[in-house]
Amino acid sequence: MPDAADPTLAEVVLGRPRNPAPDASCRFDQVDGPVTIVIFGVTGDLAGRMLMPALAALYAGGNMPENFAIVGASRTDLTDETFRQRMRDALREFAGADAAVFDKLAPRLTYQRVHYDEPASFTALSAYLDDLSQARNLGGNRIFYLAVPPTAYEAIAVNLAMAGLADESKGHARLVIEKPFGRDLATAKILEQALHTRFAEHQIFRIDHYLAKETVQNILMLRFANAIFEPVWNRRYVDYVSILAAESIGVEHRASYYDHFGVLRDMFQNHMMQLLSLCTIEPPSLFEAELVRDEKSKVFRALRPFTAASLAENLVLGQYASGLIGGQRAPAYLDEEGVPGDSPTPTFAAMKVYVDNWRWQGVPFYMISGKRLPEKRTEIAVQFKPVPYSMFREIFGDHIKANRLTLRIQPDEQVSLTFQAKAPGPMCLRSVTMNFNYYQGYEGPALSAYAKVLLDCMLGDQTLFWRQDGVELCWRFLAPMLGQPDPNRLFLYKAGTWGPQEAGKLLAAHGLTP
Ligand code: BG6
Repeated sequence: MPDAADPTLAEVVLGRPRNPAPDASCRFDQVDGPVTIVIFGVTGDLAGRMLMPALAALYAGGNMPENFAIVGASRTDLTDETFRQRMRDALREFAGADAAVFDKLAPRLTYQRVHYDEPASFTALSAYLDDLSQARNLGGNRIFYLAVPPTAYEAIAVNLAMAGLADESKGHARLVIEKPFGRDLATAKILEQALHTRFAEHQIFRIDHYLAKETVQNILMLRFANAIFEPVWNRRYVDYVSILAAESIGVEHRASYYDHFGVLRDMFQNHMMQLLSLCTIEPPSLFEAELVRDEKSKVFRALRPFTAASLAENLVLGQYASGLIGGQRAPAYLDEEGVPGDSPTPTFAAMKVYVDNWRWQGVPFYMISGKRLPEKRTEIAVQFKPVPYSMFREIFGDHIKANRLTLRIQPDEQVSLTFQAKAPGPMCLRSVTMNFNYYQGYEGPALSAYAKVLLDCMLGDQTLFWRQDGVELCWRFLAPMLGQPDPNRLFLYKAGTWGPQEAGKLLAAHGLTP
């Protein structure tokens, strides 16, 4: 008797049905044991816009442990009830969640007022958490999410530790922080010393929300769970790679932060470097936090350092002037509320980067990111070399377009491969594209980037988080370009265009158009 799992003759010849559903083993890991999540800065934008919707989604999807509590902490004087009301409003506004979802979650939410620089406030917090644990049987696992400005990281970490809350004898104590991790190498080291004397590296979860985006995670799956890409994923076959993170929005309400950081610190030191590393790392022997992050650090170490001369040639910085985006007038960066009228902060950067190792020697990586570009688009294009010799030259001439693999990360998540095919009818070639839409044929659960980050943090899996050595290596690499830009080399571009013309020239060397 054939086994039901045996393929039929038709399946052998024609293949198994396309897009079979993932099997039962494809599910999220379950969090083991109870946990208390303390969110500092809970009245802020990040908590309402991202964290609460993510926690509610994890809860609704059955990803939270049986027993958990979410403790809001901030300087504002709130009662449990007024705190819940705020969170209810945030969920309605940012996640469109109905009241019924929140009603189930609400009893898990409590509030404790904390002054970040007052040790006594943390002693009180510690006693409060102990009482809560006892009353609700929450055990000793705790996550401290610092949704506060980075200037408050050190005080909170120090005071947590002084109140005994970094201690792991009764359960884990994890500290979650968001970028920026410093403003340059020196300040990143200062921050690291402040955190590390109180928390060990395995307790520190440094978020890069790009790493938790579905299609960013897919880069490693695509590269290393398929046999057909790796053999051509190197200098012999790849002509260049471009990594684009375009945004149509401006600085919004974050001018005071943004003007101090600019595009190099805001996007390159973190998200762009992670995208670059995922495209270029060697396969680790296992998909495990330390092994994956070891490989990333090797790539960061192999980045060719910039000199003053190579910077002038390979880096273009820009700042947006007023213009039209989608028919709407957008103000110049200098006219945004909170931006000094003579600010030299770049809102656009394009750079050509090399990874000096055996695999990538000589392959340029073009990295481009900017605000107020025509559309929101994040994508990586791997441009392959043309065929070495064209047997069709008598018919089509010497030039045959080369293949391109595009990994579209947002807004529409897809992988597409462009190749040449004969046109039906006359002897003509045409470029055609095979598209894979990431969610096509899939109806199972998915997680937003913040939900994934929170889940991994509860699971103690640091694969999608920055390790300190990576942070420092990237700051070191970017250091030569972090000084005040030469005003003659900060190029204006109209909002709604693809950046300054000078960037076009940098890319045109390879026939790229931004
Ligand atoms: C943040 C930057 O880290 O990423 C913002 O601070 C930027 O300036 C944002 O807008 C982009 O993230 P996403 O997920 O919208 O691509």
